[in-house]
Amino acid sequence: MITLTVNGTSHTLDVEPDTPLLYVLRDDLALHGPKFGCGLAQCGSCTVLLDGVAVRSCVTPVSAVGAKKVVTLEGLGTSARPHPMQQAFIDEQAAQCGYCVNGMIMSATALLAKTPNPSDRQIRQALAGNLCRCGTHQRIVAAVKRAATTKGA
Ligand code: FES
Ligand code: FES
Repeated sequence: MITLTVNGTSHTLDVEPDTPLLYVLRDDLALHGPKFGCGLAQCGSCTVLLDGVAVRSCVTPVSAVGAKKVVTLEGLGTSARPHPMQQAFIDEQAAQCGYCVNGMIMSATALLAKTPNPSDRQIRQALAGNLCRCGTHQRIVAAVKRAATTKGA
């Protein structure tokens, strides 16, 4: 049995310790914000926060989570009350197919927690490991800048 705290709720699950956290989130907890892209820590689409740090859940064994708090896209905000980062992505229309957006939002949220007013360069560096096959990068950077100016408003 593994106990996980996800989006503020504790879950005790009968899963193998080496199961990727991504599989547990999607298959056992029905949290489909984090996406399976490569499964190899190469694309960032599976990104979640572990105690506020952006990690790739596809290569994180569930047994490695321990007491750290997991936050997924669903834990940031809701459709009715989106997180400022989610609202900024909507306002900037920063998605085409949308597959990368989970990872972009989670990585950008971790960035702003540490660096509230990042430069374009810092945003690009923070998101460099998150791949977008649609070429939406300009709008994504604009969304992160917008979130930096509106968060807490
Ligand atoms: S699915 Fe995890 S990095 Fe690609
Ligand atoms: S919007 Fe399609 S992968 Fe980024």
